[in-house]
Amino acid sequence: MGVLKDRFGRHLNYIRISVTDRCNYRCLYCMPAEGLEWIPHERIMTYEEILFLARVLKDLGVEKIRFTGGEPLVRKGLFPFLGSLRGFVPGVRTVLTTNGSLIPQYIDEVARSGLSGVNVSLDTLDEGLFRFMTRNGNLQDVIEGIRLLAERTDIPLKINTVLMKGTNDGEVETLLDFARTHGAVLRLIEFMPLDDSVWRKDLFIPASEILQRLPERGFWERMDNSSDHSAGPARYFRNVSTGQRIGVIEAVSHHFCQSCNRLRVSATGVMRPCLFSEEGIDLRPALLSGNAASVEALVLQAVNSKPQSYCHANTGATHMSRIGG
Ligand code: 5AD
Ligand code: SF4
Repeated sequence: MGVLKDRFGRHLNYIRISVTDRCNYRCLYCMPAEGLEWIPHERIMTYEEILFLARVLKDLGVEKIRFTGGEPLVRKGLFPFLGSLRGFVPGVRTVLTTNGSLIPQYIDEVARSGLSGVNVSLDTLDEGLFRFMTRNGNLQDVIEGIRLLAERTDIPLKINTVLMKGTNDGEVETLLDFARTHGAVLRLIEFMPLDDSVWRKDLFIPASEILQRLPERGFWERMDNSSDHSAGPARYFRNVSTGQRIGVIEAVSHHFCQSCNRLRVSATGVMRPCLFSEEGIDLRPALLSGNAASVEALVLQAVNSKPQSYCHANTGATHMSRIGG
């Protein structure tokens, strides 16, 4: 088994694969109000192609694959696919990022899925604000999804909250309580400039400022997760009195490029070495040819082109829903 190392010595053992660009929500921070034009089905990787890709990645030393979207649960056949994947790449941990709204419909499948982690996006516990932020999502579906995940499975849960100034930045305490009662770890994510038509500087708020504002602020101590590779870019804090953990992902105010262990593959099969760069390598022709050596060569090419760090000036139009969070 190989080890994927880039030019800067970073060990790339974690891949995020988007299974669809489609989503039933249109979050403020992710999409324009009118939504995006969906990519036609024939341009989206088939599950067979993703299985093949996963096998090549495992042989290259990848240990963890996260499936994202858009919203991965809107793609038909996701759970049968995850079932086949387990047999195909035993030992590789599979995790999922979801908006949680369809979890109630699929809870039995989720419980049997063998997933090693589920991250649910939840930005507010206020129904009206939720509808506003997701542009018509139903908060109760997500709450029910999280409740079922907590009760019916023992999959480790994280709740991801993107902070927007004057919007949901007053919700952190409520979300912290909610996370604690559901055994989930809350992670506060800075609003990232992925799309110029969506990002607004005046809505940006540094995650560290939020931590400062928590009433128990003296009680949150920094946890050393430098040896925990799965922590990725998150910095974790632990409440000394309750033991509760909270993560902050300071994509904008802190450069975490140095510890970046990931590569991304879009639903169309383009491997992107860096979230903030438009550059990508199209794996699709090699996946379609069924030739493992050529897929491997392209993955190595992507790894070798991973930049040391990014430059915000070059962001351009990049939608999380298209590239997989
Ligand atoms: N900034 C930060 N996070 C984002 N996401 C999508 N767009 C952005 C953005 N502009 C993340 C959110 C969401 C996940 C699917 O993608 O965490 O929960
Ligand atoms: Fe919201 Fe995620 Fe859908 Fe984007 S992909 S609109 S962040 S639920």
